[in-house]
Amino acid sequence: MQHELIIILDFGSQYTQLIARRVREQGVYCEIHPFHLSAEAIAAKRPTGVILSGGPSSVTDEDAPRVAADFYESVGVPILGICYGMQLVAVDLGGRSEPAARREYGHAKVKVLSGRTDLFNELPFELDVWMSHGDHVTELPSGFVRTATTGDVVTAIENPERRIYCVQFHPEVSHTPLGKELLRNFLFQICGCKGDWTPASFIKEEIERIRETIGTTDRVICGLSGGVDSTVAAVLVHEAIGDRQTCIFVNNGLLRYREFEDTLQVYKDNLHLNVIGVDASAEFYAVLAGITDPEKKRKAIGAKFIDVFQAEADKLADANWLVQGTLYPDVIESVSVRGASVTIKTHHNVGGLPEEMNLKLIEPLRELFKDEVRAIGRDLGIPEMILERHPFPGPGLGVRILGDITPDKVELLQKADRIFIEELHRSGLYNEVWQAFAVLLPIQSVGVMGDFRTYEKTVALRAVTSTDGMTADWARLPHELLAAVSSRITSEVRGVNRVVCDITSKPPGTIEWE
Ligand code: XMP
Repeated sequence: MQHELIIILDFGSQYTQLIARRVREQGVYCEIHPFHLSAEAIAAKRPTGVILSGGPSSVTDEDAPRVAADFYESVGVPILGICYGMQLVAVDLGGRSEPAARREYGHAKVKVLSGRTDLFNELPFELDVWMSHGDHVTELPSGFVRTATTGDVVTAIENPERRIYCVQFHPEVSHTPLGKELLRNFLFQICGCKGDWTPASFIKEEIERIRETIGTTDRVICGLSGGVDSTVAAVLVHEAIGDRQTCIFVNNGLLRYREFEDTLQVYKDNLHLNVIGVDASAEFYAVLAGITDPEKKRKAIGAKFIDVFQAEADKLADANWLVQGTLYPDVIESVSVRGASVTIKTHHNVGGLPEEMNLKLIEPLRELFKDEVRAIGRDLGIPEMILERHPFPGPGLGVRILGDITPDKVELLQKADRIFIEELHRSGLYNEVWQAFAVLLPIQSVGVMGDFRTYEKTVALRAVTSTDGMTADWARLPHELLAAVSSRITSEVRGVNRVVCDITSKPPGTIEWE
């Protein structure tokens, strides 16, 4: 079935994915494509509307990114230009845009000029918005009218006949409180969307699609990590083809306290997955012995994982498909207006399975954002314990034990980490933070316990708030909570006599310590 579709042409704004999420929250499916997507490619997708994103460029630059030739003539559906998108429309259709004397950045008050315009329908005449731009429209293209201003600057323009609407500010960010209503006006009033994309419709269609792709005899392998993505992917495939899917859940000895046992039980008893649990802890500890360099640890863990996984997969000789929990942000073709990003750590390498496995890939989540995966997981009856669990790196506690890894240190860290997480749950703050965990430091310090001098290990507490893990701030946890965690760790975990708290944001720190 063809859903209503909004195409977002990406000009490189940091908010492009946010636009997509805001549109989808309204039940309207949307896709992000590079700004130069050809007019034919757009037409072939039969969109209901097109949004032009913001971007870091200035339309006055010589090499400014532009829509494909014939875009405006052939698109045939309503257009919403946001920020850079507005400048582009203005210049492309015969108006003018000039660099402003002063870059407008942050909060602004916008005056809406006519309450009857469809885009501002039922919105107040004065709006709080978020601006981030350096150019102004100084001359309107013919057929366009101003619909909002900030001081003497034009903040919104439109040509209702051609169904082109533009705003200088960012309706997609939370700092524009009524931005959602404005987007709704575009989607529902202007484009005529009904909102036909829901978790339930996704699940139904995806299950059918998986059935069609896999056919009635093929067999599938799925690697489970205990996290949201692989679990939701596995459950969808299970709904589609049942036990023709075999899941493999590897214990690398670097999971959280009792995570392997508890999650395996949920996979089997609650979700009825056909799952093989492989406890390979000893093999991982053996290859990790003596390694202290963070990148070497990551590589060793990644390579061992592939060994173990492949050995299990080889036993399932008749399997021809591999499930991967790839998400939409990994799939979006990124726009290179900002230049290539640098690799800071070799992330997400763990679980990157070798191509020579000769399996075809099935990626049931490749159209979804993380919050959508959670919503779908909820509809599929996956327990909150898995859906709401904080992100966990592939190399696990391996990158939270600084220095070399030994089974004893793992056990010690698991205990300390469990206390932190337990107390966080007890305080009701677990879901308020993006990630919280304990780190074992490679130092010892002097303490006193009873009448004795101690010389033991230090545990650092790390808790951050974030929306995507790319940037983060240290979580301001209540002192009472920190005090409870500290005193429980030092009294319950043998070998730890000091607890410290990491108060570094990202950047300059990273979330993990290695
Ligand atoms: P950093 O430490 O770079 O982490 O601020 C950002 C997010 O990524 C997770 N992370 C990893 N995930 N393999 C993974 O699958 C890795 O090697 C890895 N290193 C960091 C981290 O937990 C945080 O959520």
